[in-house]
Order: sequence, then C-alpha cells, then structure tokens
Amino acid sequence: MSKPKVLITRRWPESVELKLQQRYQVTLNPDDHPFSAEELKQALQQYDAVCPSVCDSLPAEVLNVADKRCKILGNFGVGYNHIDIAAARQQGLTVSNTPGVLTESTADIAMTLLLMSARRGAEGDRLVRSGGWSGWCPTQMMSSDVTGATLGLIGFGRIAQAMAGKAHHGFGMKILYVKPSPADPATVADLQAIRCNNVEQMLPQCDYVSLHCPGGAETRHLINAERLRLMKPSAHLINTARGDVVDSQALIDALRERRIAGAGLDVYENEPKLHPGFLSLENATLLPHLGSATIATRTAMGEKVLANLEAFFAGRELPDRVV
Ligand code: DGY
Repeated sequence: MSKPKVLITRRWPESVELKLQQRYQVTLNPDDHPFSAEELKQALQQYDAVCPSVCDSLPAEVLNVADKRCKILGNFGVGYNHIDIAAARQQGLTVSNTPGVLTESTADIAMTLLLMSARRGAEGDRLVRSGGWSGWCPTQMMSSDVTGATLGLIGFGRIAQAMAGKAHHGFGMKILYVKPSPADPATVADLQAIRCNNVEQMLPQCDYVSLHCPGGAETRHLINAERLRLMKPSAHLINTARGDVVDSQALIDALRERRIAGAGLDVYENEPKLHPGFLSLENATLLPHLGSATIATRTAMGEKVLANLEAFFAGRELPDRVV
C-alpha cells in the first residue's frame, strides 16, 4: 500500500520533518512562504493529510472546496480559531491540535511581557540603542513593581495556571481569575487563587491582567473600550492568547491617553499586519507571536502532530482530537 500523502504548510524543526519524511510521502514548503487560500484549497484536493498552523486561514470557503482528498488537518499548534471547526465537521474532516507541550514556553513569554511592560524593558533597550541614554539618574524611567502585585487571569486553563505558578511562587503575586467553571481545588489552593464572578469585578483589582482564553467569535473584543476603562491607570494588559480578543483601536486609545500604563502583546488582530497605531507607542511592548517558539517546544509540537497522524492512519483514536 502506498504511503499517505502529507503536506506541511510551513517549515518545522528538522528532526520532525525528517521523521515525517520517513513515514509518509511528504511535501515541505522549502521557502516557508505563507500559503494563499488557493494553495490551501489545492492542498486539500491533493493530500491525505494537511498540517496547517496558526498562519493558515481555513474558513468554510476553503474547507468546502470540491473534490477533496484530505481527511485530516493535523494542526501544528494548540489554538485552532483559524480553522472553521463547524465547516470541518460538516465536511467530515478530522482535526487535531497540540495541547500540553507548549504550556510552559507560552507562560514564560506571558511572564516576559509582564516584566518588560512593568519595567519598561523594550523602551530602555531602545533608549540605549539610540545613543540617547545620558547615564543613571534617580528619576530615570521609573516603573512599576511586579513582586507582590496582583495578577488577574482571564481564562484559567493550562497556560494561565502555569503563568500563575510562576507569578505566585516566583514573584509573590496575588492571583485572581475568571473562568466559567471553578478550577481544580488543589491548583487553587497551591496558588491561593481567588475566582472572581466576572471580568468586570476582576479588572479594577488588578495591577496586571493576562489573557488566556481561546480566540474566535465568542471572545472577539472581550477587552473593549468599556472594560479598559475598568482597569487601574497603573495597570498593564498582557496578551499571549489571540489578537482578536482585544479591540486594537480601543487599546491604542487607552495606551495613548495613559488610561492604562502599558501593554505587552505577542498576538495581534490581522497579524502580522498589526494596527500601525501600536508602533509609535512607547508603552506597548510588541513581540512577534513567540509564545511557543523554543526549539524543544516546537519539536514537541511536531511530535504531537506525528502522533495524531499515526493514530489516524492506523485507525486508532487520536490523542488530541478536536473534531
Ligand atoms: C498555538 O499553538 O496556538 C500558538 O499560538 C502558535 O504556536
């Protein structure tokens, strides 16, 4: 029997590309260009498995392409809001993702952004590089304390809990969270975390707010102008979840008018074409979607996709089935 045909839409760490090539007839993307909708449609027509990532938009219009050969989308990433899941289900496509393996690295980036925003790290780096630093002085670039401050988490899944662990045990932070259902009692006890009734109740109490909910229609612009007004003027907003959870224009206005102190962002609406208003704001720390970008994590993500493909083609239940 011939090997299944598999396409990966972007470059992966070499070790997992090699393993994939040993098991399947694989097409790589040698120049690592982002696929157009047309290329994605063709991929669905030509391959048994397509392995997309967050940079591939797969709306119904693409997934519904005629004469599909594809049976499984092995997503390289935990978030799948770039895939129209209802359309995938309706088209009989299986979808898998990569939960668990990127928890710590993404929480590390959230903590990095929190520290950079609080202590004005990116701004300080720019000052030194520009040659504009005139030397130490007692009032230069004063910033906000992290140790002992209050961190509010919107969403309290794996990544939020990992960040809470770093913040509470590493920095003595008080942890508040909002989640539809109560969290595991042992985790709550370990973090001395307090569940708030809703976002409105939590925001005014926080020195730092970190977003950890899934993207998609339900959470689009969850952080909007009204909710930004509930934050303390000294507070910082951290987003490592999905860009569309925050209304960009409302955040830019709040940062420009200093209604909040800062924002640390790893994700953006319409990324990589983020709102140009962010670029001139000294109090916005901007990273290029680095959450899971360590060699070990990206390799583990590839291994997860491999495990899901293997189960699928062997007719076994998938370890990480979304649909
Ligand atoms: C994910 O896994 O969803 C990240 O955002 C991309 O690595």
